[in-house]
Amino acid sequence: MEDIHGLLRSHRSIRKFYDEPLPDETLVAIVRSGQSAASSSNLQATTVIRVRQPETRARISELAGGQQQILTAGAFTVWCADLHRTKLACEMAGGTMTTGMTEQFIIATVDVALAAQNAVVAAEGMGYGICYIGAIRNDPQTVADLLELPDHVYPVFGLCFGLPAQDPEVKPRLPVEVVLKDDVYCDDDIELIRAYDETLRDYYRTRTEGTKDSSWTEEMARLVDGERRPHMREFLARRGFELR
Ligand SMILES: Cc1cc2nc3c(=O)[nH]c(=O)nc-3n(C[C@H](O)[C@H](O)[C@H](O)COP(=O)(O)O)c2cc1C
Repeated sequence: MEDIHGLLRSHRSIRKFYDEPLPDETLVAIVRSGQSAASSSNLQATTVIRVRQPETRARISELAGGQQQILTAGAFTVWCADLHRTKLACEMAGGTMTTGMTEQFIIATVDVALAAQNAVVAAEGMGYGICYIGAIRNDPQTVADLLELPDHVYPVFGLCFGLPAQDPEVKPRLPVEVVLKDDVYCDDDIELIRAYDETLRDYYRTRTEGTKDSSWTEEMARLVDGERRPHMREFLARRGFELR
């Protein structure tokens, strides 16, 4: 028990990797463990694409804002929510899939996240480092085109795996009391959040030798004060996730 908590709490994203490809069998084992995550109604709506072509990785790195770890990771993968396979299964059983339901979008996306995080824990347990890449959604249409995704499949995030070539500090999390509540919701956590602000500010200052001086609330304000990736709704609708 201690070991699994220790493993989970030592997670930190890795953005520098040794230049060593992840063996195919290692990625297979990691994804296989990812598949063992719980899955809504056993939908198993996850498809993982390992991007091998250097040109494709370069293009994705560019559209993700030039993130170097996409190029240098031992394996760069794109995790897709896949209702194309569900549609196929439905048709194999003689049915016709009703498409475009918001509920389908939620369960498929949750499925991908659970499988990916299982894979992450498996990889970290083997000593590998990981970095999620949400920035592939800067230009999801190009990613879908590059990976030849059919309708009813959308790329949720990228995920880098590889041998860590850095040893960053663990990023502190909110106090658990802010996250875990009894019986009903309450948000009387201002003091705890203020304290966390200072913890995170110290973390950034230490990690960046003073160049980043920011708190959690400031980071959140930057994140949600204004629209982000407003193209996503239309992109999802085009792919068959109409969100009805
Ligand atoms: C869905 C998702 C998308 C993310 N996208 C990126 C990304 O595009 N680039 C990046 O460097 N980190 C990305 N991250 C990593 C987060 O920034 C990181 O997990 C968070 O700051 C907490 O830090 P830690 O993972 O080191 O504990 C992403 C994480 C998640 C879960």
